Amino acid sequence: MRGKIIVIGSQKGGVGKTTTTLNLAYSLREMGKKVLTVDFDSQANLTTCYGIEDTGALEYTIGHLMMAQIEEELPENFEDYIQSREGVDYIPSSIYLSVVDAKLRTEMGAERMLAEVLEPLRSRYDYILIDTCPALGMLTINALAAADEVIITVNPQLLAMMGLQDFLRTVGKIKKRINPRLEIAGILLTMCESRTTLCKVLTEEVTESFQGKIKVFQTRIPATVKVGESIYYNMPIAQYSKKASAGIAYRKFAKEIIAYEG
Ligand SMILES: Nc1ncnc2c1ncn2[C@@H]1O[C@H](COP(=O)(O)OP(=O)(O)OP(=O)(O)O)[C@@H](O)[C@H]1O
Ligand SMILES: [Mg+2]
Repeated sequence: MRGKIIVIGSQKGGVGKTTTTLNLAYSLREMGKKVLTVDFDSQANLTTCYGIEDTGALEYTIGHLMMAQIEEELPENFEDYIQSREGVDYIPSSIYLSVVDAKLRTEMGAERMLAEVLEPLRSRYDYILIDTCPALGMLTINALAAADEVIITVNPQLLAMMGLQDFLRTVGKIKKRINPRLEIAGILLTMCESRTTLCKVLTEEVTESFQGKIKVFQTRIPATVKVGESIYYNMPIAQYSKKASAGIAYRKFAKEIIAYEG
């Protein structure tokens, strides 16, 4: 087994990256895939979604693994760092990752630290999903340098096109300079209010501008209050409510990801 590493990215905040990581992982797991998620954001929202309240107290996080890699003292055994919830393995995060972020800026050749941390784990999973922070700094560069694919989440409410070009330019540079394997899997539209005209117009705008260049996934994730509720109860949406539209959509999206052989 050589797992595929997928980054869920966007330099914008609040566009459903964490929600997508959580729910795509769960749906892939439901389809029998072995999945690891990596919370690569010092806000640690994904970790909180898994029910950990005091993330600041965690001693085994992705930040600690990154620091060990920088100091060339990576442990032989990762067991302490990998937790599990509803059949999905995950490596938690905490505010400590922001210390790593600062350290990476002064370290030479530090773009591939995460790639090196994850390499030995590849053989154990079908998919490794990385949730990223909303910035184009060293952490995001590390995530993209480690990945085979990137899924770009776009919320058509939030002036979808703004900033997208910057992100694509960064992906292009990383592919050219650091990670030739990197491909854009596609754009996932999240929080779609299909009834509103603005949402329709912006969705068409995204689809038209990238036609033939970047795939816009067929599945769109609808906006529903059930997402917020499920996060409050620390559950994937499909588990919180069998009938919730977003849960059904994430299941469909997981099928699209499995079918996609980039
Ligand atoms: N399909 C949806 N319907 C309704 N609300 C949603 C949906 N997806 C996400 N949300 C809500 O939108 C907010 C932002 O989502 P999320 O945390 O996944 O975004 P993010 O891109 O990870 O944000 P950040 O950049 O801060 O990490 C959350 O409060 C979440 O509950
Ligand atoms: Mg997030």
